[in-house]
Amino acid sequence: MKSLHRETARLVLRPLKPSDYARWKLTHSTMLDSKNIWDAKRRTDDLLTREKFKQVLQAQKTRRENDSFYDFAVFEKKTGDLIGSVSAMDVLRGVAQTAFLGYGIYNRYWGKGYAKEAVRALIDIAFTDLSLHRLEAGIEPANRRSIMLARSLKLRKEGLKKRAIYLRETWIDLVMYSATCEDFSYSYRWKKKPTLRLR
Ligand SMILES: CC(C)(COP(=O)(O)OP(=O)(O)OC[C@H]1O[C@@H](n2cnc3c(N)ncnc32)[C@H](O)[C@@H]1OP(=O)(O)O)[C@@H](O)C(=O)NCCC(=O)NCCS
Repeated sequence: MKSLHRETARLVLRPLKPSDYARWKLTHSTMLDSKNIWDAKRRTDDLLTREKFKQVLQAQKTRRENDSFYDFAVFEKKTGDLIGSVSAMDVLRGVAQTAFLGYGIYNRYWGKGYAKEAVRALIDIAFTDLSLHRLEAGIEPANRRSIMLARSLKLRKEGLKKRAIYLRETWIDLVMYSATCEDFSYSYRWKKKPTLRLR
């Protein structure tokens, strides 16, 4: 049985659960103004109902159980604040054993090394509990903060993927950064789809 719960020096990563509703609502309703187009936006009350939260949890549970996408909320240990999220997205099994890295830290917590700490923990989950071999981050060339994070994590720059995703009503290019488990000194052994527990 594998775990989807990680604690680092300053953070806790885990899937959201029903008792997180009040914290989730508070976080998303009191978000500071966005600092760039990739930054999370404050949500209006109609998007923060208990029913919406249940739908979020259900969607995350379904894709986790399908082994297709793993979402993790990131909490600051000392305050319990919900400070962002990271994910292993669009899992490819078969011969690829790959997922794409997703991450976002809410801007009042930027510049403290939290993204680096959270993504490093996600990499550990991916290469151990999720039995993945390769992780890729696709970053818009103008997203300087995200590129600095990828470099800081020592991900390998692989080049520009042309017209990679459809976003904001157009096809956009992504700079690809990647790592395989060997880059982080994990050895890969072929395994079946993991059986998961939340803690
Ligand atoms: C990208 C993002 C996750 C970074 O979060 P963060 O918590 O501020 O990042 P960290 O503090 O862990 O910094 C990571 C590294 O990037 C560097 N960095 C961060 N912002 C920087 C900036 N504006 N200029 C230069 N370097 C920067 C840090 O110095 C650090 O490198 P170091 O460890 O070598 O010092 C955050 O800005 C964010 O959530 N952005 C919006 C969502 C987003 O863009 N997601 C990614 C989509 S691909």
